[in-house]
Amino acid sequence: MTSRAAAVLRKNDMGGWTRASPTLYPHQWSWDSAFIAIGLAHLDTGRAAAEIRSLLDHQWRNGKIPHIVFNPEAPPESYFPGPEHWASAADSPDAPSGPARTSGLCQPPVHAIAALRILHVAEARGEGVAEAREFLHEVYPKLLAWHRYLATQRDPEGSGLVTIYHPWESGTDNSPRWSAALERVEVGEMPDYERPDLGHVPDPSERPTGYEYDRFIWLVEVIKRTGCDDALLHGTSPFLAKDVLASAILVRANEALLDIAEVAGAPEDDRATIRAWIERGRRGLDERWDPKLGLCLDYDLRASKTLKARTIAGFAPLIAGSEKVDRLETLLRVFDSRVFTGNHDLRWPLPPSTSPDQTGFHLRSYWRGPIWPVMNWLFWWSLEKTGEHQRASQIRNSGLAQLSDRCFGEYYEPFTGEALGSDDQSWTAAVALDWLASEEVSEKP
Ligand code: SER
Repeated sequence: MTSRAAAVLRKNDMGGWTRASPTLYPHQWSWDSAFIAIGLAHLDTGRAAAEIRSLLDHQWRNGKIPHIVFNPEAPPESYFPGPEHWASAADSPDAPSGPARTSGLCQPPVHAIAALRILHVAEARGEGVAEAREFLHEVYPKLLAWHRYLATQRDPEGSGLVTIYHPWESGTDNSPRWSAALERVEVGEMPDYERPDLGHVPDPSERPTGYEYDRFIWLVEVIKRTGCDDALLHGTSPFLAKDVLASAILVRANEALLDIAEVAGAPEDDRATIRAWIERGRRGLDERWDPKLGLCLDYDLRASKTLKARTIAGFAPLIAGSEKVDRLETLLRVFDSRVFTGNHDLRWPLPPSTSPDQTGFHLRSYWRGPIWPVMNWLFWWSLEKTGEHQRASQIRNSGLAQLSDRCFGEYYEPFTGEALGSDDQSWTAAVALDWLASEEVSEKP
């Protein structure tokens, strides 16, 4: 499997950066690239560093890492909304200068976790350690600026939770976690658009619906009209939500950033700030706890309503590493229960993106049910950090078994195990590479 996974990353290598998949996603995606760097590290730590460096070359002046860096060579009809559609984002005073265009959104902050893992892999391999340390030194201020952007512009309330303006920013686009908030969005006047994504999958039911897409594209319109201005969007965006999954990832990313600060010899002031972000993040997640469901829930700021849905995002405190032992126990119980990995119809005991018991669950539709290998990786990695080694290795083993078809699917039908979406998805190949090498890489808990 290792050589086939490596071949996928080579095939999608565009020279210094990696497209998310061969046809469906011909550009560089932010959190995809972070996971890709984790896989690449096992092939070449220098190339892994280049992956993150190339993304950071397009960082916005306010610290935001854009969710897409567009490939100028990709045919305009290959992806929508592409660089032409986002062109006006370049008018924002915060947009980066330079020829490559970016979107105005962002995605969950896996980058510091990936950057640190490059060093750990180099240490385990006994080569490229000095270069990896230099790389961390170089990217530290950029990662700090990114986390500062999330802690301030995306959390003016100081709640510890990240605010998003678009479901795409959550990375879990059509998940039922956003259904109620999306239903409240009234679509205004906008030009007609085509959906190339539907032509890149065998079955359109694997992608979000037209109803969802109209809202996705309308929200892009709204964001562009504000010039991607955070303060304006807080006041006017019809979609404004606290995302518990991104917030949990940010807690772990801040822990990684603390270690990177150490390597970079950063001042104590920085470290105190990062520690405060970690504490605030965990506290924010605590406040979103739903004792009835035994899950953590997102919050619709626009409607002042909790977004109640049983999805993998609910396990956010498991990913962040809660200090509350009873809460972790409850989460693990729900994780193992028939509502998630204990469902008897599952092909593999892995967490479906949406619980089969949740209204809106769909076996084939993107984040409404299918199992995402990259999420399995996140659970495996977090459970290892929490000391849940047995559970973690069960996820890794089932996760690898799921990938034994060697399609490296984007996501998997939970009951049959069929690969869905795009084949040769870069981040799927990347997590396979990391799992296959994982016995050698040690991280502190
Ligand atoms: N995931 C979105 C898409 O499908 C954008 O990030 O295009």
